[in-house]
Amino acid sequence: MDDKQKPVLGHGEAGIEAGGHRDYVGGKWDEIGKLQFDFLCTQGLLPEHVFLDVACGSLRGGVHFIPYLNVGNYLGIEKEDKLIEAGLVEEVGEELALTKSPEFVISSTFAFQHFTKKADYALAQSLFTHLTADLLELCLRNMRPQVKDGCRFFATFFESETSVDNPESSHDHLNFKYTQAELATLGEKHGWSANYIGDWGHPRGQRMMEFVGT
Ligand SMILES: C[S@@+](CC[C@H](N)C(=O)[O-])C[C@H]1O[C@@H](n2cnc3c(N)ncnc32)[C@H](O)[C@@H]1O
Repeated sequence: MDDKQKPVLGHGEAGIEAGGHRDYVGGKWDEIGKLQFDFLCTQGLLPEHVFLDVACGSLRGGVHFIPYLNVGNYLGIEKEDKLIEAGLVEEVGEELALTKSPEFVISSTFAFQHFTKKADYALAQSLFTHLTADLLELCLRNMRPQVKDGCRFFATFFESETSVDNPESSHDHLNFKYTQAELATLGEKHGWSANYIGDWGHPRGQRMMEFVGT
């Protein structure tokens, strides 16, 4: 079955149970996991940097970032605790998780203040693609004071040339589209400068925006 024929999975715990932790975050596990890790490395991510994985899901990216980063330098925030649990037990493995001590916050309201460290780099891979503008703005607003000045935050999005009517509520399996200008304006309102990167090789055409903490 190709992507277009797949029925939309349920939202939250029921969807995770029905689809499993890999499909819930969109499948293409190895490809999209490696893509995000390689991208951050080309942007200068080093093991000594603190890295924040915004909406880390079941650790599709985390399986690459956690072993690479120094102890305690991986921070993950996610609203579905079952995804993190599956990611740690079934993907990362408990031994590596113990050795590398990643930090997690379970929150749907972007409660970044609960982390013990401030990030140098951050990524939201396929989060803004599923959020209303209000929630996306909350993410940018709450994150800025909780990361280092100069933090580079990369966020993927579905790009539209003109403003569109998105679904009324955020949903993990419905697609939301934004213009470059809409994202840049929201970022600038909350202490970020925006830099459009565009195509970064995502198999479903998601584009990349970089926000730099000013
Ligand atoms: C398409 S998945 C991507 C997960 C991960 N970034 C990856 O690339 O595998 C989107 C994730 O965003 C999470 N999410 C959606 N809304 C959220 C919110 N308000 N706060 C935290 N996580 C959220 C979902 O639970 C899901 O794990």
